[in-house]
Amino acid sequence: MSKNPLGMKRFGPVTLNVQNAQGEAERLSKLLGMDIAYIPEGNDQIFGLEAEDVLFILDGSPAAEALAKEYGNHVTELGIRVDSAQAALDAAKKKTSEPMRLCEKTGVAYLKAPHDGELYFRFIEDGQHPYLGMVRNPNLKPSGNYAFNRIDHIVTNTQKILPVIQFMQDVFGMQKVNEFTVRVEADDFMASLYSEVMGIYGSEEAILFPVNEPLAGDDVSQIPAQLREMKRSHAQHIALATDDIVHGIQSLRSRGMAFLEFRNEAHAKCYYEDVPNRLGNITVQEALTTLRELGILVDKCGEGYLLQLFSTRMFPDKSVPFVEIIQRASDVIGCFGDGNFAALAESLEYSMRHGGTSQP
Ligand SMILES: [Fe+2]
Repeated sequence: MSKNPLGMKRFGPVTLNVQNAQGEAERLSKLLGMDIAYIPEGNDQIFGLEAEDVLFILDGSPAAEALAKEYGNHVTELGIRVDSAQAALDAAKKKTSEPMRLCEKTGVAYLKAPHDGELYFRFIEDGQHPYLGMVRNPNLKPSGNYAFNRIDHIVTNTQKILPVIQFMQDVFGMQKVNEFTVRVEADDFMASLYSEVMGIYGSEEAILFPVNEPLAGDDVSQIPAQLREMKRSHAQHIALATDDIVHGIQSLRSRGMAFLEFRNEAHAKCYYEDVPNRLGNITVQEALTTLRELGILVDKCGEGYLLQLFSTRMFPDKSVPFVEIIQRASDVIGCFGDGNFAALAESLEYSMRHGGTSQP
């Protein structure tokens, strides 16, 4: 079997169903430092937020808004750039009976994800119009100074990981590039999850889909809580890549973006003091004091390292989705910071227990 049967190239636009699309477009544009690159063409409230190769489509059309009302604002389509949308659909048809269709007007293809609920993969070619109902903003003046420039990975939460992994293997030709089991128990909480990271080889850029499921017997920590909150499988976070995370986090913090904090100062101290042990003889270019000031996590990745930090919630009403900012200084693409994973899960758990930090 071809390693990339659908001709996947890199991540494409991510679509979110939202209420008050204009208000959210203005708020998120300020908060994330993204340009409002697309505005509604007709009566539907559809906006596109852009930062280089990242495009978030905020769909506030009546059908999308009704879903957002029922489930909260949420990600509904995971965009993937392909050589040919039609060919991708033809290849998928041979491997799955999940519903799929080609949009006649745009030529963009949709394939229902195997998760329960309404999550879709959306195959789009370079040069295709990204979404019906919106046009390029004629007053657009790209800021050019972005905190991130492309999508690194998109994480989904589901009750049953196996059918999702199987689908990604059979239909997308993906392989498991990493897996994690996290179980952290403390006096006042437990953090646990099982995660497999699926990735494709032979694409222009890495396309990584980590999939989380609750660990057996855990119905109290973040993943089961998020599944209950969203009532079904969903995209938990979108990881946005940058080549300069220090600038990115400084910029986002100055915009009022809130990030996950360590449980307390003692945990933070411990974490950063342990960095030399975790990294061995790998040299981190960024000053550790700066990373600590900004709360950026650092972990080993092959012979290099990676830097990452999770935001708090994107929308005030739900704990997911949120974003992660990540900088990879490594040739290994499937790293997620094994040491960071427990720290991140713990931070998330702590944040959930304490109500998270709502953003402006
Ligand atoms: Fe992530």
